[in-house]
Amino acid sequence: MPVQTLKWQDDALVLLDQTSLPEYVTYEACRDVESVAKAIEVLMVRGAPAIGLAAAYGVLIGARAAVNDSRDIFYTCVHRAIERLRQTRPTAVNLFWALDHMKNVLEGCADLEDNEFICDRLLEEANRLFAEDQEICRRMGTNGAALLPANGQIITHCNAGGLATADYGTALGVVYAAHEQGKKIAVFADETRPLLQGSRLTAWELQQSGVPVKVICDNMAATVLRKEAIACCIVGADRIAANGDVANKIGTYGLALMAEAHSVPFYVVAPVSTLDVSLDSGDEIPIEERSGDEIRNGMGKWTAPTDIDVYNPAFDVTPHHLVSAIISEQGIAHPPFESTLRTWALEASKT
Ligand code: MRU
Repeated sequence: MPVQTLKWQDDALVLLDQTSLPEYVTYEACRDVESVAKAIEVLMVRGAPAIGLAAAYGVLIGARAAVNDSRDIFYTCVHRAIERLRQTRPTAVNLFWALDHMKNVLEGCADLEDNEFICDRLLEEANRLFAEDQEICRRMGTNGAALLPANGQIITHCNAGGLATADYGTALGVVYAAHEQGKKIAVFADETRPLLQGSRLTAWELQQSGVPVKVICDNMAATVLRKEAIACCIVGADRIAANGDVANKIGTYGLALMAEAHSVPFYVVAPVSTLDVSLDSGDEIPIEERSGDEIRNGMGKWTAPTDIDVYNPAFDVTPHHLVSAIISEQGIAHPPFESTLRTWALEASKT
């Protein structure tokens, strides 16, 4: 990746401010829990794995703020930080997965005397999750690249790249891995209304990395599928239910329907931490609704009457029957997905 999405530096969580891209490359240092929570809520840091990692460092920040307090106050403060971070965004399960990891470390330290030592353990855990995500991106990339032709075009939606992870991404990780292998892959990036993660982020990072990319408005995807030779559509995920239903950025479901209508494979790339096998189907996945102003006044201009009612779900659920394969660090799952997804989740829970 040409730039790093997040890093722990000088006792702060330093975030690349994704709300300013592609116009400005600026960084924001978060030094208290509220700044981390706000950064997640406003999408300064976004994308399922990156949200989880930011939250993990947010817990550490909460712990360090109370390091000189009594054990009771220290624990109360860390639990309060975890609860605040849990409230930020409901759909990406990686957030809750990462917070649970941090909470487990905290609980495991209950017998230790020194708060400083517990903070060290929390830092180690956040760094471990970060390093693990980097490695997982590489493994998903290699697994998925095998599905891409030596020469071809793909469509992606939203941003599932380096900006959404600790390394080079999930869906875009597959593209980067194929690119590194010498495959000639060109990308059509859906602009991804209303917050334009496709045109602002995906197009930007692919351009930085020298991967050919064309931005299309979301309503052009059907025409592209009809007129261009598209090898496959590749997207990331925020949460995948046990049956293979996939929650991802709003518009993913529409793209999957269009892909099916044109007999184009539809691939989902996500780490096992994005699986939520406690949910039987995607109907149970909580879908975040965001402010109507993102639609009425998204990029600083009124594009609808100021007081008009809007509906603004941030995610949708693509039913599993529209998904051709799910690629994780563990391999490739083909339909029917359930037994493979449950096996992957079980294996991961043992480590
Ligand atoms: O609202 P966002 O920008 O956080 O939504 C992100 C997505 O929907 C991504 O596709 C998903 O998190 C996968 S990121 C590897």
